[in-house]
Amino acid sequence: MSINIALDGPSGAGKSTIAKAIAAKFGYIYVDTGALYRTVALYMLRNGVDVSDAEQVSAKLDGLSVKLAYSDGTQRVLLNGEDVSDLIRTPEISMGASAVSAVPEVRKFLFDTQKTIAAENNIIMDGRDIGTVVLPDAQVKIFLTASAEERARRRFAELSEKGDPSTYEEVLADIIQRDHNDSHRETAPLKKADDAVEVDSTELSLEQVVEKISDIITEKTAVKKSQRELIPLRPVEKGKPIKFKVKVFYRLVRWFLTGVYKVWYNTKFVGKENCPKDGGNIFVSNHRSYADPVLVSLPVVVPCSFMAKEELFQGNVLFKWLISYLGAFPVQRGKGDSSAIDRSIEELNKGRNLLIFPEGTRSKDGTVGKIRSGAALIGIVAQTPVIPCAICFKNKLRFRRKIIVAYGKPIIPADIGAIDTSPKSIKILRTKISEEINRLVDENVNKL
Ligand code: DC
Repeated sequence: MSINIALDGPSGAGKSTIAKAIAAKFGYIYVDTGALYRTVALYMLRNGVDVSDAEQVSAKLDGLSVKLAYSDGTQRVLLNGEDVSDLIRTPEISMGASAVSAVPEVRKFLFDTQKTIAAENNIIMDGRDIGTVVLPDAQVKIFLTASAEERARRRFAELSEKGDPSTYEEVLADIIQRDHNDSHRETAPLKKADDAVEVDSTELSLEQVVEKISDIITEKTAVKKSQRELIPLRPVEKGKPIKFKVKVFYRLVRWFLTGVYKVWYNTKFVGKENCPKDGGNIFVSNHRSYADPVLVSLPVVVPCSFMAKEELFQGNVLFKWLISYLGAFPVQRGKGDSSAIDRSIEELNKGRNLLIFPEGTRSKDGTVGKIRSGAALIGIVAQTPVIPCAICFKNKLRFRRKIIVAYGKPIIPADIGAIDTSPKSIKILRTKISEEINRLVDENVNKL
């Protein structure tokens, strides 16, 4: 089954830019459905049809063929065989598209084209009714918004760059008008699907929006996959010895860094007795700073491996060598969870521990964000103890600022009923991890 991502939202919310970036990152095809409505509008205007007259528009559809073609991942749209991709980007066509898209026959006419391409490919499709009408079964639905003023500002900058003389006020009026048309029409009005996740891009940069949506896609496709089929368990072989060279190097680094952290940061460790002496365990911690992998690992006798962004391995060779030696291994964000599971089990079976930050991103204000399913999934597949940890300090890391790193009792997945990779089991372990990390944070922040 192909992966379908529905991205809906009002004009100018940045859908196409975001969808292109996501498509490139995940290797999906980007389907811009607005181009289909624009092409119908171009055809109608070329033939002198009054686009506000639904009857005239539907009557003229007979002589029309609209097709999508892809070259080098870029969408081209063909009007009766002619490539009109560059002709449909004018304000006049934008208004025309808004008018023809309110005609039910036009929507019906374009429906199959959209359905077919989604059935045959992994796609991210943007539009207004993708999550509600065209792809109601899409695995991921995003509703991307931004304030009308912000959208007008972005579009105005884009048009000015192209030499378009429209003023900001005209662009804003245009956007407000189109919003009104698109959300008040009778057929398929612009509406957030009940199961769509809303992302407001008003105060976010392009990179931040892409990051946010990528995380949603990774999370949702992982859960959906595990709903379809159970992943076989691969219990970790505990007690395996680690390589002598690694052991010596790690001892030295640990001894040195423990000193540095105690002196430089005034670090206290609470509940150290909860850290098993052998390897093959999973440590799950809240995420505050780049120092976290070191902070959590210091009282842990056996080295911890931890996942790191792939980009970190592409730069400086020395840096790459150092972080790999310290236990970092690359994960490709958005490539689904199977490669991350494989790598994690491999690390655990080397006799090492595994450290995961299940919030995915660092929290700047110290509150614990949403705990994702990945750590629970790996804990279940590995059927190994999961040790909850909390890193607590005020604001930012500073010289001599107190840090408390707390460790909770190991959670044994099977003991709490997390015995397979069904959504129910994943939820049990995810909830337990979340509760324990939050409890440890609450218990220790007031000791700072
Ligand atoms: O996204 P865009 O600006 O290229 O879309 C042009 C018009 O087409 C817009 O006014 C709304 C309409 N549209 C629609 O009704 N349904 C879609 N799936 C895509 C676009």
